[in-house]
Amino acid sequence: MKAQVGLIIHQEQEDYLERLLPERDLLLREMERFADEHGIPITDPEVATFLEITVRAIRAKRVLEVGTAIGYADIFMARAMTPQGKVVTIDISAEMIEKAKAYVKRAGLEERVEFHNDPALTVIPTIEGPFDLVYLDAVKEEYRDYLDLALPLMRIGGVVVCDNVLWRGQVASGRLHAEQYRRSTEALRGFNDYFVHHPQLLAQILPVGDGLAYGAKVK
Ligand SMILES: C[S@@+](CC[C@H](N)C(=O)[O-])C[C@H]1O[C@@H](n2cnc3c(N)ncnc32)[C@H](O)[C@@H]1O
Repeated sequence: MKAQVGLIIHQEQEDYLERLLPERDLLLREMERFADEHGIPITDPEVATFLEITVRAIRAKRVLEVGTAIGYADIFMARAMTPQGKVVTIDISAEMIEKAKAYVKRAGLEERVEFHNDPALTVIPTIEGPFDLVYLDAVKEEYRDYLDLALPLMRIGGVVVCDNVLWRGQVASGRLHAEQYRRSTEALRGFNDYFVHHPQLLAQILPVGDGLAYGAKVK
C-alpha cells in the first residue's frame, strides 16, 4: 500500500514514477481496491514489480515470503515463475491467509503458493531450503530475527528483499508520525545497519516504495 506521498521522495517524482508503472490486470486492481477499503497494508505495486523482475532475473524457483496479507506480492512472484516454482508464504492471521488463498486460486496459481498460518518465528525454523529469494514484510521489530533464520536457508547468489525499511521517512529523519512507531522505527534503524554491513550480504537500501533493503547472499 502507498506510503504517504512525498515522505520518501518528492511528490513530482512519485507522480511521474506512478505514471510509468506497468498496468495491473483486473484481479490485481480488485485486490488493491479491497486492501484500500479495508485498511490492509499490501505491498506497493512498484515493490511487487521489483520482486517480479528479481524472480525473473535470478530465475527463482523457490521464494520465501514473511507476511502474506491478501497475497498481492505472491501473485506477482508466482506468475514470474515456471510451473515448478513455489512461493512459501507465512502469515499469523487466519483471515488474511483465507483471503490470500481465494485470490491465488482465482489467479490460477494455487499449485505455486504454499501457505503457513502461524507466527513467522515459529514457522521459519521448520521450513526446508534452499530459497532463491526471501521477501520480509511482517513485524518490523522482528526483521533481524527473520533474516538470521532465513539466511541459512538461502543459496549463495540468492536475494533478500525487506519492505518498509525507511518507514514513511521516520527512520532517516527520526521524526515520528506517532509515538506508536518509536519501537519499530528504532528497530528498523538497527536492522538497516545490520543488513548493509552483514558479512554474508552485498546489500543496499533503495528508495523504492516505503524503502527496500536489497541484498545478495555472497557467502
Ligand atoms: C505488510 S503486510 C504483508 C503484505 C504482503 N506481503 C503483500 O504482498 O501485500 C504484513 C502481514 O504480516 C502479518 N503478520 C503480522 N505479524 C506476523 C507474524 N508474527 N508472523 C507472520 N505474519 C505476521 C500480518 O497479518 C500482515 O498480513
